[in-house]
Amino acid sequence: MHLEHLGIAVSDLTAARKLYTKLLNVAPYKEEVVEDQGVTTLFFMAGESKVELLEATRPDSPIAKYIEKRGEGIHHVAFEVKDIHAEMERLRKEGFRLLSEEPTIGADNKLVCFVHPKSAGGVLVELCQSRS
Ligand code: CO
Repeated sequence: MHLEHLGIAVSDLTAARKLYTKLLNVAPYKEEVVEDQGVTTLFFMAGESKVELLEATRPDSPIAKYIEKRGEGIHHVAFEVKDIHAEMERLRKEGFRLLSEEPTIGADNKLVCFVHPKSAGGVLVELCQSRS
């Protein structure tokens, strides 16, 4: 398991694109809409890890709700795993609350699953596995 990316909720992707391009001194390599999550994602490489900017595509998107409650900022921490099904099973047995029964298809060609922040010390944790 290794840190794959940080997910950062932003309210204005155009402004955030400029800010993070300057901050990380690198241009984003991918923009992708994940319709069932209601987000537009923008990815930057930052050394071995990535930064994923998340902008809501609609008012009832989880990202819109998150920003309404807590403002912009770090939204989730994502760890890449080799076998997401096995890892989900392991975490369930350890008593963690998962937000879905099965992995879903996320951005950047990944299978993803989220761990509820209430069972993970206040941090929304994403598990991801490359689909290639
Ligand atoms: Co993510």
